[in-house]
Amino acid sequence: MLVEKNCSLQPFNSFGIAARAQTLVHVRCVDDILQLLAHEELGRGPFFVLGGGSNIVLTGDVKAVVLKMEIKGLRLLEDTPQAWIVEAGAGELWHDCVRWTLAHGLPGLENLALIPGTVGAAPVQNIGAYGVELQDRFESLDAVDLATGQCFTLDAAQCGFAYRDSVFKHAPSQPTANGGLPRGMGLAGRAVITRVRLRLPKPWKAELGYLDLQRRSAETGIAQPTAQQVFEWVCAIRRAKLPDPRVVGNAGSFFKNPTVTPEQCLDIIARDPRVVHYPMTDGSFKLAAGWLIDACGWRGKSVGKAGVYEKQALVLVNRGHGQDSVTGGEVMTLARAIQTSVYERFGIRLEPEPVVV
Ligand code: EPU
Repeated sequence: MLVEKNCSLQPFNSFGIAARAQTLVHVRCVDDILQLLAHEELGRGPFFVLGGGSNIVLTGDVKAVVLKMEIKGLRLLEDTPQAWIVEAGAGELWHDCVRWTLAHGLPGLENLALIPGTVGAAPVQNIGAYGVELQDRFESLDAVDLATGQCFTLDAAQCGFAYRDSVFKHAPSQPTANGGLPRGMGLAGRAVITRVRLRLPKPWKAELGYLDLQRRSAETGIAQPTAQQVFEWVCAIRRAKLPDPRVVGNAGSFFKNPTVTPEQCLDIIARDPRVVHYPMTDGSFKLAAGWLIDACGWRGKSVGKAGVYEKQALVLVNRGHGQDSVTGGEVMTLARAIQTSVYERFGIRLEPEPVVV
């Protein structure tokens, strides 16, 4: 187990916020976690599990013991008539995993290309893009209970997946957003994910439901693209709309797209008929938070060194650099100002997506 003291977290969070960890442990195998838990001083915690740092806002130095997940490994575990099962270490970069599967002739993850972060973080917020969510390609995961040191495996139902949500985002006493699990199933701060198994269904079929992909299909005249072509389309769409965190610090979408009742949706349409809304299968409507923020005039604006990205108002960005980076406080001040204007104009409360540390 490799331990670093007073370690800068700036290279390890995609916002590029300057903050430090008192103690950072590089976790390269399950045994590193067990050694840490058995350690007289560090084993007492509290712990903070860090994946790719692409979905966090650091508001100060981190006093908890930081577990930087670096467990590697990618392999085809099973090849059945129904599916390919791929196993990936929690510390693999998600995009590398997507590329690896395609290079090995295992399609199914292409719509989730270029999502920043690690494999281990993917189930935490049930990553999703262009019509596919992690839960649609999930088999099971292995984790370690930080309270007891026990290793355990969870299937999809036990993970309590919902839109950008899972048991890993909820404190032990809270229910999950989908309400599907009994109270007490929250695992935030308690479980550290070590391996994830993905289920890539056969026969493969291109998932082209998302409007941006339909447009690409029409523009190129390719009605039945290969998985590699879908991968390339998704990468091109993301590169055109979303800032590269290596160039402009950000944490992806800063707010969740809110879900409203048909009555609320009609009320908002009455306020502005152009509002982007999608009917859901349960009768509710999902609103495009980026459109709501844009309609309030925030796109391209800044407060201090926290900015709203010019090409996608749902993404907040770091307009500072190096030691002069944005602070987590500035990001949250901007986020609150946006929430207030969207609430005043549309009566909708936007919920932040990243974890605020
Ligand atoms: N829009 C605007 N102005 C803006 C931004 C968006 O009018 O400034 C409109 C767009 O024109 C479009 C609609 O809002 O009609 C939706 O925009 P987009 O297709 O970019 O998707 P999104 O709903 O903003 C979600 C996910 C993204 C994911 C994309 C594609 C959430 C919170 N975000 O964004 O996920 O890549 O769909 O599936 O669900 C992330 O979670 O970090 C993330 C990037």
